[in-house]
Amino acid sequence: MFSIVNWKKKHAKYLTKNTPNIGQIYNKWRKLKYLLNHALTLNCRHIISMGGAYSNHLHALAYMGYVLGLATTGYVRGERPTPLTPTLQDAQEWGMALKFVSRGDYRLLRGYQDWDALPDLAAGDYWLPEGGAQALALQGVAESVAEIDIPFDWLCVPCGTGTTLAGLVGAVPEHSQVLGFAAFKNAAFLNQEVARLLPQPRQNWRINLDYHGGGFAKASPVLMAFISEFQADTDIVLEPVYTGKLLFGLFDLIRQNAFTAGSTLIAVHTGGLQGNRGFLPCSDN
Ligand SMILES: Cc1ncc(COP(=O)(O)O)c(C=O)c1O
Repeated sequence: MFSIVNWKKKHAKYLTKNTPNIGQIYNKWRKLKYLLNHALTLNCRHIISMGGAYSNHLHALAYMGYVLGLATTGYVRGERPTPLTPTLQDAQEWGMALKFVSRGDYRLLRGYQDWDALPDLAAGDYWLPEGGAQALALQGVAESVAEIDIPFDWLCVPCGTGTTLAGLVGAVPEHSQVLGFAAFKNAAFLNQEVARLLPQPRQNWRINLDYHGGGFAKASPVLMAFISEFQADTDIVLEPVYTGKLLFGLFDLIRQNAFTAGSTLIAVHTGGLQGNRGFLPCSDN
């Protein structure tokens, strides 16, 4: 599940473990695991959440709901697209009820943070805020660090809500640092968001804000060319929203000698490949 970039004297080495199907929803499974467990302990079997038309989060939630026998509802930002995006088609096939909401209403939904905060919840309903950005998500993410079986100096990860980064921060060995790459513009607020999520203040992390590539889900020809080249060199598939920007940024920093020579850098492949269908119409990921 990890692509490992071991940079030493200008040589990069890529190792990859076999990615099982669940790898398609890699960091979502980690993030959702303890949240869904919480829902079940409360006897809630209907999970309601929110996301965009290509949302990895809604896609993963619909799949997990299907597998676990839970009902799911997704509030989707904007008008119902015709036809439905492949992401939403999958979600619907897995039983998710889709409710399309205006951008204004979507912003309002962002304000509801706790599992029972959404107005008019019925008994058995459980509200999951955007991207699963909850303290309970950290525990599942933290568990992934134990799978890294080499010492490392930097653990690098893409950031949307910053929850995945926060989960890693508490779990890396003392001498290691976590470096996030923001997937969208004007993301400085992520620093406060991560600080809010962390159970105690930590100094071993930072978020680079420079590689958003023009904004969320903006994929420049340069980024797409980098992704193709990376895939050709390594057989590791990336997508342009999160993992492509992470590796692009990381390689650029390496070129600028931003890391001490001999450092071991690990890039976490957070999945999200289903979203490639929004960029590559012929891909059947
Ligand atoms: C593939 C992928 N990678 C990374 C992230 C960022 O995760 P987080 O929101 O925990 O920062 C997301 C979030 O949607 C994602 O879908």
